[in-house]
Amino acid sequence: MFGDFSASNPPLFKQLAELQNQLDESNAEKLQLESQLNALKAQQLSLLRELKEQQLVTAEITQLRQQVDILAKNKKKLEISLDVITEHADLFEMQLVDAQNSLEQKVTERTQELEEKNNQLQAEIQERSRIETELLHAKESADVARISAEMANQAKSIFLAKMSHELRTPLNAILGYGELLQEDLTDMGLAEFSNELHQIQRAGEHLLSLVSDILDVSKIETETLALSLTEFTVNDMVNNVVSLIRPTLKGNILEVRCFNKVGTMRADATRVQQILQNLLSNAIKFTKQGRICFAVKLRADYVYFRVKDTGIGIPAEKLSSIFEAFNQVDNSYTRQYDGSGIGLTLCKQLCQAMNGEVYVKSILGQGSAFTVQLPRYPEND
Ligand SMILES: Nc1ncnc2c1ncn2[C@@H]1O[C@H](COP(=O)(O)OP(=O)(O)O)[C@@H](O)[C@H]1O
Ligand SMILES: [Mg+2]
Repeated sequence: MFGDFSASNPPLFKQLAELQNQLDESNAEKLQLESQLNALKAQQLSLLRELKEQQLVTAEITQLRQQVDILAKNKKKLEISLDVITEHADLFEMQLVDAQNSLEQKVTERTQELEEKNNQLQAEIQERSRIETELLHAKESADVARISAEMANQAKSIFLAKMSHELRTPLNAILGYGELLQEDLTDMGLAEFSNELHQIQRAGEHLLSLVSDILDVSKIETETLALSLTEFTVNDMVNNVVSLIRPTLKGNILEVRCFNKVGTMRADATRVQQILQNLLSNAIKFTKQGRICFAVKLRADYVYFRVKDTGIGIPAEKLSSIFEAFNQVDNSYTRQYDGSGIGLTLCKQLCQAMNGEVYVKSILGQGSAFTVQLPRYPEND
């Protein structure tokens, strides 16, 4: 296009060409500027982004700062609390130390107490074992004493049995000759001596009955008493006893209650009579101008003989001991009533030998009641 034109107008063409060049240059420059602009835009964008990020960071920093403040405040609070706690802990520690000290003291005191108690216990144990040993020795000597007492009692019984036997023979002779002498004196008209002789006779009879009682007791103790069981009418035996006792009543009234329906029984009649005579003579001895009731009863398989009086009575604490040999309520030498204290021992032993028993009830100053219980027909006789 410019060929024709340049040929007709060279200067313009030159100008145009220059302009063209300039334009090209400007285009190139424009392109360059555009690319620079783009780069700047990109830079701006990245700067903006950075700015934004920076803002975010600032916000975070602010937040962090706030948190740090809060933390600082909390720390302060904690420090205060820590102080308080430390103070309390110190106080507590002091109290703890005090408590520990007093505990230690208490433990020491308690240990001391326990030691003392332990010593006491030890002493008590020693004392006890000493007493035990002493008791053991005492028991041993008591056993030895008991055995020797039993042996001595046995020897005594044998001796008494022999002596009583030896005494009875001359006594019986004295009594027999006394009786003869009394008859002779009466025949010879010397009755004034008869009274003295009668006294001698009575004393002799008393001595004989005493000797007989002693012999019986020793026979029972040495188990040499032989019973002779027979069947007899109770009423007859009672009448026999009453006839022997009546002359000795000494102003007392005797009431007898025994009926025929009691019938018969099987026992040693002489021994039963001996028991009843003993009880009746006691009742008479210890009753002054009173009443004595002698009653017989049959109940179940037993016969009961009861001797009741309105005499002096027996103190309650003496009731069990009166059955012991030679035991009397009044054991003094100056006592009012005579006797040896062997009658009830014999009664009890004879009752038991016949599978029976004797019981006593008494009120001091009012009277006594002795009851003999005997099997009517003993099983193994
Ligand atoms: N019926 C009674 N009333 C009061 N006391 C009695 C009676 N029977 C026995 N006694 C008491 O029991 C004691 C023992 O009696 P006993 O053995 O017969 O001996 P004794 O008649 O020889 O004294 C008597 O000394 C007396 O103290
Ligand atoms: Mg008597």
